[in-house]
Amino acid sequence: MDFDTIHDRRGTHSMKWDDMEQLFGISPDDGLAMWVADMDFRSPRVVRDALQDMVDHGIFGYYADFSDYHDAIGWWMQNRHGWTVEPDRLLSACSLDNAICMTIDALTDPGDGICIMSPVYHAFHAIIGKTGRKVVQLPMQVADDGRYGLDIAGWDAAMTGTERALLLCSPHNPGGRVWTRDELAALADFATRHDLVLISDEVHFDMVYPGNHHIPTALIDGVADRLVTLTSASKVLYIPGARISNIIAANDDFHRKLKTRIGSIGVKPSNFSMNMVAAAYSPAGAEWVDALVAYLDGNRKLLDAGLAAIPGLRSMPLEATYLSWVDFSGTGMDWTEVSQRVAGRARIAAQPGQPFGTGGESCFRLNIGTPRANVAKAIARLQDAFSDLQ
Ligand SMILES: Cc1ncc(COP(=O)(O)O)c(C=O)c1O
Repeated sequence: MDFDTIHDRRGTHSMKWDDMEQLFGISPDDGLAMWVADMDFRSPRVVRDALQDMVDHGIFGYYADFSDYHDAIGWWMQNRHGWTVEPDRLLSACSLDNAICMTIDALTDPGDGICIMSPVYHAFHAIIGKTGRKVVQLPMQVADDGRYGLDIAGWDAAMTGTERALLLCSPHNPGGRVWTRDELAALADFATRHDLVLISDEVHFDMVYPGNHHIPTALIDGVADRLVTLTSASKVLYIPGARISNIIAANDDFHRKLKTRIGSIGVKPSNFSMNMVAAAYSPAGAEWVDALVAYLDGNRKLLDAGLAAIPGLRSMPLEATYLSWVDFSGTGMDWTEVSQRVAGRARIAAQPGQPFGTGGESCFRLNIGTPRANVAKAIARLQDAFSDLQ
């Protein structure tokens, strides 16, 4: 499997590359797009073949019988995650963000507090605001090993009784934590004690590095009745343009409310996206993911070593995701100055950390889901941009 080829994505309606100049002032001609969580690889051959078959048939009529799609999801969850998902529990949304919106909308009320463990995926903040709910930040702690950890006692003390849900990111973006069984049990217990709906966004669950093991929140004892799990093939099987995701709730009342909400706005996946998922969630797709994880493991090691040579920059040890979280607090600079070096001198579009919430102000995020030559180029440019510190 080839992850080394650099594909020219300019002029292809790629958000990552074609919006870079407007958003970051960096030309795609010599800039490096390392911001949005979108990789630079061709999607798995099995997915491309499935689409090619559709094109060859050339008839794009209405679709009936979703069983191939549902069976493939069931197969993947069972084989890759040891989780049995009944087909009648599967609801489809048109992206993971859309699944979050609809879950918040269906199961909470305007004005309710939605807890998030900050810093966390910046869209969580935006979605909670757009749905008319209130963001309740539960700041994480950085442990001695440099990884994020929970602060249950601190969070207990901060709760006011107006919170209705906890939006969990598992594995965590940014910082790349794979929550352990004990941590997930502590989060489930926290949700139970404060009577919160637990919404578990597991979109990154297939990108977990060797030595770590993702546990679906649904496998934690006692949580089923308050849990909604959101997953999709988009991030790791690399089909984000397919705009499709899953909403899974064992609780009958939740399932019914979610189904009603989805029905009321007429969300239905397209034939293309369902076929892409059905093809991706297969033994060939699994083989592709294993090769991808091994490749990106090499990228993260390269980046960590390269950044370690720059005094004041430190990347969090990633256990999952292709999103490296770089803490620049050791440089003594603020983001304006750091961004002049990262965007201005290194010509790298990095995701600023401040929109990720409390704890993100002194960080930026670099997407390493790209050919290794780009990671090597980014390291060389960053070392040059910060060379006065060495
Ligand atoms: C944790 C998390 N959830 C959701 C999304 C968005 O996924 P989608 O493009 O399917 O809406 C992302 C994208 O980066 C993400 O990191």
